[in-house]
Amino acid sequence: MFLVTGATGSLGRRIVRQLREQAMPVRAFVRLTSNYGELEDRGAEIFIGDLKQERDMEKACRGVQYIISAHGADGDAQALDYRANIELIDRAKENGVEHFVFISVLGVDRGYQDSPTFKAKREVEKYLQASGLNYTILRPSGFANNLLPLAERFRDTGIYLLIGDPKNRSSIVSTDDLATIAIASVRVEEAKNQTFAVGGPEILKREEIPRIFARLFKKEPIVINLPLVVVDALRTGIGLFNPQLQKSLGTLRTLLANEFFCTPEEIARLEATFNLQMESLESFLKRYLGRN
Ligand SMILES: NC(=O)c1ccc[n+]([C@@H]2O[C@H](COP(=O)([O-])OP(=O)(O)OC[C@H]3O[C@@H](n4cnc5c(N)ncnc54)[C@H](OP(=O)(O)O)[C@@H]3O)[C@@H](O)[C@H]2O)c1
Repeated sequence: MFLVTGATGSLGRRIVRQLREQAMPVRAFVRLTSNYGELEDRGAEIFIGDLKQERDMEKACRGVQYIISAHGADGDAQALDYRANIELIDRAKENGVEHFVFISVLGVDRGYQDSPTFKAKREVEKYLQASGLNYTILRPSGFANNLLPLAERFRDTGIYLLIGDPKNRSSIVSTDDLATIAIASVRVEEAKNQTFAVGGPEILKREEIPRIFARLFKKEPIVINLPLVVVDALRTGIGLFNPQLQKSLGTLRTLLANEFFCTPEEIARLEATFNLQMESLESFLKRYLGRN
């Protein structure tokens, strides 16, 4: 039995779908307010709880063989990125869990002090590595599904809003590939107690994304480039009313201000370990947007 946290999220949903396609038993940790009908229809066991409640986590971990931690921070990195994962690791040990897969983030080891999420994930990585559990840590770059709403807006308006330096590079990863890798991590021997950078096969400059959209929709892009100082000014303004939100926005700022790409060697290692070919962003978008 797999336990998947964040089972209704972009990644978690794909993990549960793929597990059910392989007829694997999976317990989906969801909130009562989550949209979990599809997971139930696919035959996942639905566990309703809150990752801020230790009692819920204790119950959810009973009788599970594998845990894939794929939940998000929901604006509270301390409680969800940090505390909930520490709790899951402790419960995994108590329950004799065979393998723990942790979804971290690319660049987590660069010491970004402005991002509570990056700091929390790095601490969780260290705790997991010292836990004695079998583990795999996956450090993905930005998910391709994040671009689907932007592509749809582009299709309707031709507009692409680019925040920050257009030359900044990233290796956007197919969210489906990441789900495949997360599942395979528990059985691939070479993935045991390893940490992987996970990205798409190409290094893209941000300015190349509207060009991909332009090819898909055969439309000239209107690129609106907002400099980071605009985000900083907004953040300062928000801080006057909501200091907590201002801190949470530090993660967004970190993501916008820096480059997150995998080296060709990292991609080669990933593809060799998991015996797959990483999908390009263009191919992912074509699949989801029905373009050929
Ligand atoms: N998105 C990216 O580009 C990216 C890049 C690198 C790493 N990551 C990491 O990858 C993981 C998955 O990201 P994602 O984009 O798939 O996340 P997401 O779509 O934002 O989903 C977050 C999930 O966490 C659940 N959740 C939040 N608070 C909860 C709580 N208190 N109790 C129970 N469940 C709770 C949400 O449930 P509800 O449905 O109820 O809201 C949802 O299922 C995260 O750890 C993220 O940091 C993401």
